[in-house]
Amino acid sequence: MKTPTLISPRLVLEPVALEHARSLQPYFADYEVIRHLAAGVPWPYPDDGVETFFREVLLPDIQVGKAMAWALIPKDHGSAVGLLEWRCGGEAEDDRGFWLARPWWGRGLMTEAVTAFQDWVFFERGLDRLEVRNAVANVGSRRVKLKTGAQPLGRTACAHHEGDEAELWEVTRERWAALRGVTL
Ligand SMILES: CC(C)(COP(=O)(O)OP(=O)(O)OC[C@H]1O[C@@H](n2cnc3c(N)ncnc32)[C@H](O)[C@@H]1OP(=O)(O)O)[C@@H](O)C(=O)NCCC(=O)NCCS
Repeated sequence: MKTPTLISPRLVLEPVALEHARSLQPYFADYEVIRHLAAGVPWPYPDDGVETFFREVLLPDIQVGKAMAWALIPKDHGSAVGLLEWRCGGEAEDDRGFWLARPWWGRGLMTEAVTAFQDWVFFERGLDRLEVRNAVANVGSRRVKLKTGAQPLGRTACAHHEGDEAELWEVTRERWAALRGVTL
């Protein structure tokens, strides 16, 4: 299935393409962004890291239906400042990840992006359930999950830059529909 463009009040969520790598690179090469991400993300971050990751991993995975990903573009800015990725066909089925450039934190933008994604994935794509994770110390990510219908399942092993444990959550179509006032 082709990745659709999603629209939220302040963002365009555009299917990710190699062209987005240039604007994302300086924002992602920031330890404050990377510190809670998987240990496999290198630090110090290479100068061509985003483009290499897109070309060698993400775009091929999208091509074979194992992932979908969106560049997050504020309507009043015009270029990509973050990414939302959904692993949808491989072993880590229904895992979702996201990051946003530091200057855009704290404005509710990731909550908005997740809302657009969950409206699409539950109400149009018809997914029943999504499992999501965050490093135990990642208060911002936990808060986004709490604001978007996630319910805690406990903790799970997950090696990241500052620890090896993550909180595990689930979001179900039923719960999301109830929160959004949608009748299934
Ligand atoms: C996590 C992240 C995506 C949040 O994006 P965002 O657009 O700032 O999120 P929102 O504004 O929608 O919501 C963030 C919430 O967390 C709260 N928050 C953020 N950091 C916090 C902190 N250190 N302590 C307490 N609350 C915090 C904000 O106040 C806000 O809650 P509120 O709406 O109740 O005030 C962003 O910080 C980021 O990209 N971090 C680095 C990458 C990352 O950790 N990705 C997630 C991996 S699981």
